[in-house]
Amino acid sequence: MTSIDLSGKVALVSGVGDNLSFAWYIAKGLQAAGAKIVLACHPRVMGIVEGVLTRDVDRESRLLPDGSEFKPLKVLPCDASYDTMDDVPEAVRTNRRYAQFPEYSIKGTIDAVAAEFGGIDIMIHSMAFSPEITKPLIDTSRKAYHDAMGISSYSLISMVRAAAPHMANRPGGASVVGLTYVAGERVVPHYGGGMGTCKAALQMDAKQLSWFVGDKDIRVNLISAGPYASRAARAINKDFDKLITHAAEHSPLRRPIEPEEVANATLYLCSPLASAVTGQILYVDCGYNVMGT
Ligand SMILES: NC(=O)c1ccc[n+]([C@@H]2O[C@H](COP(=O)([O-])OP(=O)(O)OC[C@H]3O[C@@H](n4cnc5c(N)ncnc54)[C@H](O)[C@@H]3O)[C@@H](O)[C@H]2O)c1
Repeated sequence: MTSIDLSGKVALVSGVGDNLSFAWYIAKGLQAAGAKIVLACHPRVMGIVEGVLTRDVDRESRLLPDGSEFKPLKVLPCDASYDTMDDVPEAVRTNRRYAQFPEYSIKGTIDAVAAEFGGIDIMIHSMAFSPEITKPLIDTSRKAYHDAMGISSYSLISMVRAAAPHMANRPGGASVVGLTYVAGERVVPHYGGGMGTCKAALQMDAKQLSWFVGDKDIRVNLISAGPYASRAARAINKDFDKLITHAAEHSPLRRPIEPEEVANATLYLCSPLASAVTGQILYVDCGYNVMGT
C-alpha cells in the first residue's frame, strides 16, 4: 500500500485565520501525515487562532483521523505586506495589534522558523486580501489594486525568495503550495477589488518561481480551489452561498468541494508522489473549470 508519510518534515503554513480556513485543513492534513507544523498568521488574527487551538468548544475541529488533536509547534505573527521590518510604517509599528510583536515580516518569520527547526521542507501560501473586495474591478482604486497585489501575489515571490536558502536540497526535495481561483483565468464579475488580477499574477509567478528554485530541488505548485464559504470568501459577496450552489450545479461532479479535498491535494503535492510535478496548477473544483457555462 502506498501512503503519504511526511514524518519529520518541517511545514510552514500561512493563512490560518480561523478553523474554517483552507490553511487550517491543510495544516491538519500535514500534521496527520507526520509533519511538524509552524503557523504564520496575520498579527490581527493571532488571538482568534489561539482561541481555536485551545478552546473546548473548538476541540472537534482540532481532531485528526487517529483521534489526536491538531497542535502546531509554534504560531508566529506574519504580515505578508512586509518583506522585512524596515518596510513597516511607524503607524503600524505603534498600532496596539502590532506593537506587542518584535518581528512579523516575511523574511524575519521565515528565518526564525529555519533557525529553530533546522530548515523548511514545506511552505504553504494561503493568503489573499483586497481592501476593496466588494467593488467591481472597474471601480477599484489604484491604491487598493496595488495593496491587493502586494499582499495576495507579490508575497509569494517574497516568501519563496526568503525561504529558498532554507528549503534548498532537502532530503526528498522541498515543496511550496499556494492557493488560487478560477477568476485568475476567466471573468468572475463579483470577484472584486482586483483579486482576479492578483490570481492571474500569482499563477504566472508560481510558474516562473518553479524555474528559479527548481535547481535547488524546490517545487512550486498552486491549487485552484472551487468556491468555499471561508471567512474571506464570505467577505466577497453576501450571496456567496448562491455562488457555491451555482458552481456545484455546473460542475461535472455536481457538488461543492470540501476543504478536506484541498488539504488532500496539498498533501499529494508535498509528497514524493509529486516529485516531478512543479509549475502546475491543480484544479480541486469538482471539474468546474472545464465547463463552458
Ligand atoms: N474560499 C474560496 O472560495 C477560495 C477559492 C479559491 C481560492 N481561495 C484562496 O484560498 C486562500 C485562503 O483563503 P480562505 O478561503 O481559506 O480564506 P481565509 O479568510 O480563511 O484565509 C485568508 C487568510 O489570508 C490572511 N491574510 C490576509 N491579509 C494578510 C496579510 N497582509 N498578511 C498575512 N495574512 C493575511 C488572513 O488572515 C486569512 O488567514 C486565498 O488565497 C484565497 O484566495 C479561496
